[in-house]
Amino acid sequence: MSGAFIVFEGIDGSGKSTLCRRIAEVLVSKGMAVETTAEPTHQGIGAIIRSGSAGPVSQETEALLFVADRNDHTERIVESVSQGNIVLCDRYFASTVAYQSSGLDGRAVDAEWLLSINSRFIDRPDMVVLLDIDPEKGLGRVDSRGEEVSKFEDPEFLRRVRSCYLALAERFGFRVVDASRSADEVFEEVMSVIGEVL
Ligand code: ADP
Ligand code: TYD
Repeated sequence: MSGAFIVFEGIDGSGKSTLCRRIAEVLVSKGMAVETTAEPTHQGIGAIIRSGSAGPVSQETEALLFVADRNDHTERIVESVSQGNIVLCDRYFASTVAYQSSGLDGRAVDAEWLLSINSRFIDRPDMVVLLDIDPEKGLGRVDSRGEEVSKFEDPEFLRRVRSCYLALAERFGFRVVDASRSADEVFEEVMSVIGEVL
């Protein structure tokens, strides 16, 4: 059985982590070797990003930190896929392009520069699934999760993130799934879509 690298993208509350867990459970129950992972990671540069210990940095520097984390993460993913695992990854290069170009606090970074610093990652995934949802609906779900709200969870900002994601989907052939439907409906469609690369 050969491995595969599948990425899930979408704004906060689109359902990525819930879906990754559920897909992993089902694939494992069918006897497949599956690994779930996410960015920012929880080690090395990813842990620095999450802890905020890099201090107040510019948007460009923040983008470079996400990319540095991705660089180390990609080495681990490539190794895992080469061993025959199906790697399900919650966020990848499109998150940096969509979030860092969308002007949080009015400080937008040029999308083409963000793509250029991600050039070595663009062709890595076998498939990118974009869970598309209106930010109000996505944030409603996040609220009911009862976790602390991050600086990225602002509806106006997430509207821009969503349009950038849709433009990237068009340009790079991501598979767009309507994530506003029930968890079961989204799951069924995504299972059918990823079946093409499994
Ligand atoms: P993300 O990882 O994209 O931020 P989550 O998977 O954490 O999103 O989902 C956010 C919340 O919405 C969770 O409480 C989850 O149980 C719930 N949820 C996920 N998918 C759906 C869905 N299709 N319909 C309703 N609620 C959902
Ligand atoms: P998130 O997926 O919400 O992680 P968790 O649920 O484990 O906290 O990611 C945290 C935030 O980081 C999210 O709001 C999007 C943002 N982010 C970027 O702005 N750029 C990136 O390159 C990545 C990977 C994430």
